Amino acid sequence: MQQVQGVVARKKGAPVEIVTINVPDPGPGEAVVKVLSCGVCHTDLHYREGGINDDFPFLLGHESAGIVESVGNDVTEVAPGDFVVLNWRAVCGQCRACKRGDLHYCFATHNAKQKMTLEDGTELTPALGIGSLAEKTLVAAGQCTKVDPEARPAAVGLLGCGVMAGIGAAINTGAITRGKSIAVIGCGGVGAAAITGAALAGASPIIAVDIDAKKLAKAKALGATHTIDSSTTDPVAEIKSICAQVYEGADGADVVVEAVGRPETWKQAFYARDLAGTVVLVGVPTPDMKVPDLPLIDVFGRGGALKSSWYGDCLPSRDFPLLVDLYRQGRLDLDAFVSEEIGLADVEAAFDKMHQGDVLRSVVIL
Ligand code: APR
Ligand code: ZN
Ligand code: ZN
Repeated sequence: MQQVQGVVARKKGAPVEIVTINVPDPGPGEAVVKVLSCGVCHTDLHYREGGINDDFPFLLGHESAGIVESVGNDVTEVAPGDFVVLNWRAVCGQCRACKRGDLHYCFATHNAKQKMTLEDGTELTPALGIGSLAEKTLVAAGQCTKVDPEARPAAVGLLGCGVMAGIGAAINTGAITRGKSIAVIGCGGVGAAAITGAALAGASPIIAVDIDAKKLAKAKALGATHTIDSSTTDPVAEIKSICAQVYEGADGADVVVEAVGRPETWKQAFYARDLAGTVVLVGVPTPDMKVPDLPLIDVFGRGGALKSSWYGDCLPSRDFPLLVDLYRQGRLDLDAFVSEEIGLADVEAAFDKMHQGDVLRSVVIL
């Protein structure tokens, strides 16, 4: 066991605190990771606000790169000294989803069995089974994916959550390719990553939609060919018009990614897709939100697919090393997502900046 500093949310709505936590030595199948970077994600704020569950106290953080410090028995995935990106879905390989090939829908994912604790022994709930807003953390070895050790931790650590969710929404779930059109509604961290993924895949046009001009400017820098300010312009009509100019007869985008998580943007995505187009929902609605009341004929008549994208339908062992290599080759600009590098003490301030829409990601450097 060792003691390190970590960012803990003790009770609903209260500001986070930096406290000493106990990190057990790794047991069978577990690894202790020295954290080098951790992005501050909306989900951490949701935990702090009690919006996910009531299992306080939480050890926040889950978008990290680090170095494996030690491993327990039976660990084959990684060894001490490996540079890794952490993931929150270590697939089991045994459940029905895994066996039928849908590994990204594994319903028996692994986490560390032992608990990290506060100094008085109170068990901590690690955010998304990681808890890496801390100098060190205990995870399941399968939550560690080895990547190119020359890569910048702050940038590649973001693949652990929001950036992977966005890139994967476009590429894995939306199956976007060269010759297809895409519109992305909501260009925060996730939507901006979907735009980057679409650009990487060679899609055109790539239409960014947001109500915030700052986000649209960033989207353009990341590869959007067109931008729509939906606070002043009807995005559905505008998406249809842009796509018709590029592809004769098009009546919308081949793929529309919804990266806000609200009924009104869901509806926009639904109507902005071309005939037989695909809607990808990556924005996470709150439990009280309902599917908008739409004529059934509009569902039937347009065909296509309505898909939700869970963690970008990624497989960390396949996608993380590949995307890190593309980053190292200069073909994927992960640095653009690191808006600022901060310390452990600045997490509360980072939550405020997130609310103001000033950052794609604040990244804690350890
Ligand atoms: N129309 C278009 N864009 C909107 C609208 C709207 N009605 N309302 C908000 N937005 C934009 C915001 O301006 C912001 O740029 O959506 C973006 C949301 O971005 P972030 O707050 O940075 O959230 P992000 O981390 O990108 O996550 C987006 O995906 O993973 C989920 O839980 C996450 O539901 C959230 C969504
Ligand atoms: Zn499984
Ligand atoms: Zn996250």
